[in-house]
Amino acid sequence: MNFAVKIPCSTSNLGAGFDSIGLALNLYLEMEAKKSDVWEFISITETLQGLPSGKDNFIYQIAEKVAKKYGIGQIPPCQVKVKSGIPLARGLGSSATATLAGIELANQLLDLQLGIEDKLAIATTIEGHPDNVAPSLLGGCVIGHYQQEVNYVQLPFENVSLIAIIPEYELKTKAAREVLPQELSFQTSVHASSIANVSVAAICQQNWSLLGNLMKKDLFHQPYRKKLVPHFEQLQTFLEEKVYGLFISGAGPTVIALAEKNCPESKIAEWQNNFPTCQWIKLQVDTNGM
Ligand code: HSE
Repeated sequence: MNFAVKIPCSTSNLGAGFDSIGLALNLYLEMEAKKSDVWEFISITETLQGLPSGKDNFIYQIAEKVAKKYGIGQIPPCQVKVKSGIPLARGLGSSATATLAGIELANQLLDLQLGIEDKLAIATTIEGHPDNVAPSLLGGCVIGHYQQEVNYVQLPFENVSLIAIIPEYELKTKAAREVLPQELSFQTSVHASSIANVSVAAICQQNWSLLGNLMKKDLFHQPYRKKLVPHFEQLQTFLEEKVYGLFISGAGPTVIALAEKNCPESKIAEWQNNFPTCQWIKLQVDTNGM
């Protein structure tokens, strides 16, 4: 059996929506698989070279986990070609795309006939939270909660430009989660959740200036992570009057700015001159998902 799949990357949190709000974007992991005598992962993209080419590949390991879940010991060997336009360890959900690729590999090779809800449940259980896997799977903006089951809502996210500001350095999610507090007081939790609640309402109404304003007020993660993403505060100052708002994308270090609809490329290039070590890319929302 031959098959191909294309999975969009995602940004998550969008300020105060920690581990629960995500948005699919138009950078992709593409995987093509065909049956072979041995397992072989071929990385077409330079950034993926150096990743394991055999059964220690992350995508294979996810497929094996899925096979085990369904009581299957062996997955028929395949040659798998993987290409990715998603920068790794930059807060753009690259590992969520690889998780979904592994689930789809098992689904196709073992003819599991998994539906969207099955894939979402498996991917969220593996990742621990739905904010990257849900938008990559379903497309668009997904707000989700996971505890034994995934409860989620998909919302339109339109009439705004998304500018990803991607630094050269990587930041592992594990390190970016280690700086977070173990607990928040009741008073801080109430305050933090009210900021998140109004952020969700702002997305529902596509009120981007309100969402941008609330991004500054997040109490869940950005106050702790900003020391790992030094350009975040500099960007906040520089872009203050120019965009609706900006946030640390996922666990960072990418920062995403929400700007006026059809923000001209020439303006973005001009802004980039002030932060030349970062790549500035205008991204689109992917509404299709995997
Ligand atoms: N919501 C997650 C975080 C995304 O901010 O740590 C990375 O898994």
